[in-house]
Amino acid sequence: MADHPSAFVTGFPIRHSRSPLIHGYWLRQFGLDGSYRAVEVAPDAFAAFIHTLNDNGFVGGNVTIPHKEVAFSLCGKRDSAAEEIGAVNTLWFENDILHGGNTDAYGFLANLDSLSPGWSERKSALVLGAGGASRAVIFALKQRGFTDIRIVNRTVERAQELADRFGISGGAHGWDAVPELLKGASLIVNTTSLGMSGKDELVIDLTEADSDALVTDIVYVPLETPLLRAARFRGLETADGLGMLLHQAVPGFEHWFGKRPDVTAELRNLILADMAAGKAK
Ligand code: ATR
Repeated sequence: MADHPSAFVTGFPIRHSRSPLIHGYWLRQFGLDGSYRAVEVAPDAFAAFIHTLNDNGFVGGNVTIPHKEVAFSLCGKRDSAAEEIGAVNTLWFENDILHGGNTDAYGFLANLDSLSPGWSERKSALVLGAGGASRAVIFALKQRGFTDIRIVNRTVERAQELADRFGISGGAHGWDAVPELLKGASLIVNTTSLGMSGKDELVIDLTEADSDALVTDIVYVPLETPLLRAARFRGLETADGLGMLLHQAVPGFEHWFGKRPDVTAELRNLILADMAAGKAK
């Protein structure tokens, strides 16, 4: 390993990324002489950026919107999650070959495992949305043995594509089917951007949901999204999405810096404080 290993997160835009805070916290915690920084790269410059990682002294990094699919195509090797999801969010070198992984599914599972141990004993889920985040969540649920996955999306064809791609049994549906689909779903997960600060609200009637369903959202700004608030009012168990961001960062840190970090309450509070400061600005 390099003396001062240096890693990055790249996207366009990237200034709102909280990944530097997360990795900076772990670097300090381990007392490591490494660095991690945000690098904004426009789409037309992305391939050149990846081809010069070594020259620029990077041992690897994270990739976010809109580069995840192009990163997938530029890697020499990919892990099975990246292959299944069709997108790469973590890059590292192994034997001088650029490897690409996808840690979003891992982050999703690890977050629920930590917030609601035993959550995956029942195997039916209602997944709202059919974009890139939905692919990661569906892959994760399949990995965990979920047999009944119902996908809801505004554009039903996209949901159907995912159902076909992952060979799942619960089918593809429009939003009007939600009340029926809630019945018997042990997990309800939002993967759309609805409910995020500045976007449209996610309006959903949870009356028909099973009383022991767990409700989660991959949106974490705000921490309690309209979906999670509705679930709380309905008396359902909820799990917020911040931990997915924190846990997905763990495998990358281990690749670049050689130590497996923990997702601590202190780290979570650091990010929450940053979110609160952002709101105050
Ligand atoms: P990501 O990769 O972050 O998942 P994406 O691929 O653009 O982003 O997917 C966004 C998801 O949010 C999709 O499921 C999208 O529905 P469509 O496939 O019909 O576009 C959903 N979404 C975004 N805005 C929406 C809105 N106003 N109403 C309903 N669904 C919306």
